[in-house]
Amino acid sequence: MSAVTQSFQKKLDALREQIRHHEYRYYVLDDPELSDAEFDQLMNQLKKIEAEHPEAITPDSPTQRVGGKPREGFVKAKHSSPMFSLDNAYSIEELRDWERRVHELIERDDVEYMCELKLDGMSLVLRYEDGRLAQGITRGDGNIGEEVTSNVRTVRAVPLAVDAAKRKQAGLPADFEVRGEMMMPLASFRRMNEEREAKGLATFANPRNATAGTARQLEPSITAQRRLDYFAYMLLRDGRTIFDRQSETMDALDAAGFKANKNRRLVKSIDEVWEFIEHWETRRETLPYEIDGIVVKVDRTALQNELGFTGKAPRWAIAYKYAARGGITLVEDILVNVGRTGKLTPVAILKPVPIGGTTVSRATLHNLDEVERLGVKIGDWVQVERGGDVIPKLVGVVEDKEHPRGTREFHMPEKCPVCGGHVVRTEGEADHRCVNANCPAKLRESILHFAGRKVMNIDGMGEALVTQLTDRGLVKNVADIYRVTQEDLLKLERMGKKSAENVLREIEASKKLPLERVIFGLGVRFVGERTAQFLAEHFGSLEAVMAASAEELEEVNEVGPRIAESIVEFFAEPRNRELVEQLRQAGLTLAGEKKQRGTQLAGKTFVLTGTLARLTRDEAKKLIEDAGGRVSGSVSKKTDYVVAGEEAGSKLDKAKELGVAVIGEAELEKLVP
Ligand code: IVH
Repeated sequence: MSAVTQSFQKKLDALREQIRHHEYRYYVLDDPELSDAEFDQLMNQLKKIEAEHPEAITPDSPTQRVGGKPREGFVKAKHSSPMFSLDNAYSIEELRDWERRVHELIERDDVEYMCELKLDGMSLVLRYEDGRLAQGITRGDGNIGEEVTSNVRTVRAVPLAVDAAKRKQAGLPADFEVRGEMMMPLASFRRMNEEREAKGLATFANPRNATAGTARQLEPSITAQRRLDYFAYMLLRDGRTIFDRQSETMDALDAAGFKANKNRRLVKSIDEVWEFIEHWETRRETLPYEIDGIVVKVDRTALQNELGFTGKAPRWAIAYKYAARGGITLVEDILVNVGRTGKLTPVAILKPVPIGGTTVSRATLHNLDEVERLGVKIGDWVQVERGGDVIPKLVGVVEDKEHPRGTREFHMPEKCPVCGGHVVRTEGEADHRCVNANCPAKLRESILHFAGRKVMNIDGMGEALVTQLTDRGLVKNVADIYRVTQEDLLKLERMGKKSAENVLREIEASKKLPLERVIFGLGVRFVGERTAQFLAEHFGSLEAVMAASAEELEEVNEVGPRIAESIVEFFAEPRNRELVEQLRQAGLTLAGEKKQRGTQLAGKTFVLTGTLARLTRDEAKKLIEDAGGRVSGSVSKKTDYVVAGEEAGSKLDKAKELGVAVIGEAELEKLVP
């Protein structure tokens, strides 16, 4: 190596080390030394160097957390030794019984116990080879799990590498395995659910489900956004515990740069265990993540080995489970809340009852199916439980002498309680929705969608401005955007003459955008960017789309009965037709050119896999779609062709398994002369 490259490498190593140090301070110790901006600056510096010298990128570089392509599926991996679950205890008596069995089996009674929080996520194995993170594996059935390495790499509390110095300090070999719990902090969980709610997607019931869903995401960049955390509690080599005591394992994990939960205590009796349990019973409310109990482990490894395992759980550990915090109360009413996407959610109004430190007076019932499943009526007494999350859950109706049944049944309203618009429930779906695009409950969200980059691209019309415009009643539907004057804007906060002019210019420019943008902007359910494009090409004007019957709509590429019905419903609402009229008067582009797509591939479904030599994926997709074909993401019996390039993955195997025709790029091009 020349002197120049040597000093370059040294600088690069130092920069990476510096970033790793600050990641550790922030994500593991929760004690940053730098501001976010300062940290970003370091990271950008490294990204810049690596962009200029891609040959110098290593897999353990801090820039490589979100790398690689989306996965096509997960590969199975065998565990080095089985992953056991834990037996549960629900009272101090059960803990004493457990201790008695331990004493009998090892024939001594001077046992020390490690008390740890029972973190409520999913267990996950990290395998390190030569100090580098080689694999992240889910528990699976305990013997075989799934490899989710690219997702695990996005978790900042998981070190991508443990260097030789740290390993030495911690007493770790070059190849080792860490076991622990991956979980979603409550703040990430709440934010994610809010975002999903806003997009009309199903929300996760609790952080544990959200963690499992996120870990199995095929797109690592999505996992990265969801901010998972990882607490380590086991260290193995060749499937066996490395250290003499669990307490030493936890210290070694700390020393090696892992996050071992610091809320742990080494004790000498079950009375002291109980103290720890009571200590966290109340304080668990203050933790930024959920725990569902306390794990008690015999500290000495030698004793653990003596005690061994029953069929599914170690005899040397037990999980004390906290009781779900719940209570019984009266359902005084069931009201309906209208969300930003128009979803109607029944909400039980409860006689206020204290549960787990707060007063609960409402509980969500999610949808009509849930109301029917529970069989709950107004006037019923119900069991309410609260997990670590803020939203209480109605678990069931109570019926006995003191708690007679209610009599008033709940019905989903036919008209939206906010605007009086039509309420519909699409077949096969659980949710009811208000279809009036002008419904005030949906207003803010629909304006933001309409002004968004992929729709009418009105730069400057973000959250802050839209909130002000809707709060002041200046914008009551998307057409009102085109009536906003400079005078209106100047009355708003943080709005100078210059910005007002810019916004107005952007609004004016949006009128020239093509028909498909307007169709997409209306926010018709299930009509995304692509469908809007197909509709515009097929019908050539919004008027024609509005006049089309469900059958006519189904002639459009990729429009099935569900989408067709949703479009018909949307335009059956007089308010939506009126809205289109207002957009016409405002001067938007409501007509375009009809485009005849080819028919060579009509009715044929393709799946692309691997890297093609000449065409990019997008180009291949366009080629197929322009010829009337359809591109799907996964192989099934309905697939007509799989187009395979270099390094084709599991989709190719699937195609062979199902006997689907596999073709190459050249053959694809022959199909579309
Ligand atoms: S030790 C062989 N320690 O609880 C014993 N588990 O119900 C392995 N868990 O699958 C588990 N926090 O996912 C252990 N501090 C902790 C834990 C913990 C949460 C989970 C783990 C395990 C489940 C058993």
